[in-house]
Amino acid sequence: MKKQFLFLTSAFALAVSVVAQPSIPAATSQTATFPLYNEPYRPQYHFSPATHFMNDPNGLVFFDGLYHLYYQYNPIQLVAGHQSWGHATSMDLIHWKNLPIAIPEMTTGPVTGQIFTGSAVVDSNNTSGFFNGVPGGGLVAIYTLNEPTKQVQNVAYSLDKGTSYIEYKANPVLDLQNPNFRDPKVFWYAPGHRWIMAVALPQEHQVLFYGSPNLKNWSFLSAFGPAGIEGFQYECPNLFQVPVEGTNDKKWVLVVAINPGAPLGGSMNEYFVGNFDGTTFTADDGVARLMDFGKDFYAVQTYNNTPNNEAIAVGWMSNWQYTQVVPTFPWRGVFTVPRILSLRQNPTQTGALLVQTPISLASLREKTLFDGSTMVSPGSPLTISSQGNSSFEFETTVVGGDKGRLDISIRNAAGEQVTVGVDWDINGQVYVERGQTNGFSNRYFTNDFSTQESNVDNSITLHVLVDRSVLEVFVDDGVQVCTSSFFMAKGPPTEMQWEATNSPVLVQNLEAYTLKSIWP
Ligand code: FRU
Repeated sequence: MKKQFLFLTSAFALAVSVVAQPSIPAATSQTATFPLYNEPYRPQYHFSPATHFMNDPNGLVFFDGLYHLYYQYNPIQLVAGHQSWGHATSMDLIHWKNLPIAIPEMTTGPVTGQIFTGSAVVDSNNTSGFFNGVPGGGLVAIYTLNEPTKQVQNVAYSLDKGTSYIEYKANPVLDLQNPNFRDPKVFWYAPGHRWIMAVALPQEHQVLFYGSPNLKNWSFLSAFGPAGIEGFQYECPNLFQVPVEGTNDKKWVLVVAINPGAPLGGSMNEYFVGNFDGTTFTADDGVARLMDFGKDFYAVQTYNNTPNNEAIAVGWMSNWQYTQVVPTFPWRGVFTVPRILSLRQNPTQTGALLVQTPISLASLREKTLFDGSTMVSPGSPLTISSQGNSSFEFETTVVGGDKGRLDISIRNAAGEQVTVGVDWDINGQVYVERGQTNGFSNRYFTNDFSTQESNVDNSITLHVLVDRSVLEVFVDDGVQVCTSSFFMAKGPPTEMQWEATNSPVLVQNLEAYTLKSIWP
């Protein structure tokens, strides 16, 4: 009975219980036709696992010159299940090296369970005692063990710089005898000389905070919530500090993942801006804001121990509503380009807004597709070919008249397209439309997304990343972001058409580049 309850209430279990879990067929025409990492839907500069199913980013940590990227991984099926921690590393957050599974599902022993979402920290002072005689300490992973009847928090440590982990003998380190208690995000809180854990009590719509001197013994500090949009449940909390633009201040941001029950359906991330005093998070204004106006940005996590103390975030580009049936093969799951986070005072209202800036992809730029400013007039569209490439980026500031509209159609030769547009007519709405594509049809894979841009004048900055089947749109320097997948049946996009309606649009400092593949 209890097990059944768990299956009905955990979002993840909810998702897997309704979908059959076929193994990947040994060979299909798709594998025969396309080399690995060069399938038509395969992003070329976004991380995806070589094969099988990936969801949340886990254990994001910088250690000994490498950015580690662990992730929720089913190594044997194309849907969620057998959750383990997959692993890749990078020196620059752009090029990734795939590595063996770091923490496998526990299938034998007195305790069994899947390795759910969690985080990793550098225990450089050996507070845990796991690293006696190891100069510089090592990595400790703190994650949820999804046991048959409950979810508990476990720790494991690595003596080989993050390649593999040894389970702490006295696990679990936190057990509320609760079937829904998960996704610990742990970080070192220097002023208090202790570790802090934010962990979700999903059904209660709460984030619990715990403190620990050694990563093994945890004491309860405080609870946040219910607050904001509650959805069906809270998952994957994240607490981090970010600089406020134009000041020397830093503020704290608490991110909560909701699934299902996002306003657009399914999964989403919301954030609260406020203060954390080492014990309690207090939101400034109680306002929950969405991190994304699309449907494919979930379970975002920030890096621990970054070189310049920056908050660098990676999100999963999908949604539990359809992630297990999207038409990619032989893998499912893609991560965003890492994004540097900051806060900007809201120019039109009170409160501060999260600004998401993708890390520079300049090192991947190959061909310059456009460099300059131009006026696009109604009836005379600007067409830019991406010269056979389906992985590119562009940045510009567009200035339109009061009744004007701009449509940037990103399309393939067969006429399938996704559109990024601005509608000055209604105070500067920015929209993304992915419906004119034929590769995937699903009731929850909805087509149209829009946001109010926050500038007070008629100029809007756009930074758009296109990568075969994924799109990241950063509006007003990333104050508003739309993260979206799209599936073109007749091949990925290779052209952009910029079209103005009603009045001319000034396209200022447009820089467009093709981006090289990061995969061999
Ligand atoms: C979020 C989530 C987490 C859980 C993991 C399981 O997408 O449901 O709450 O730990 O996925 O894979």
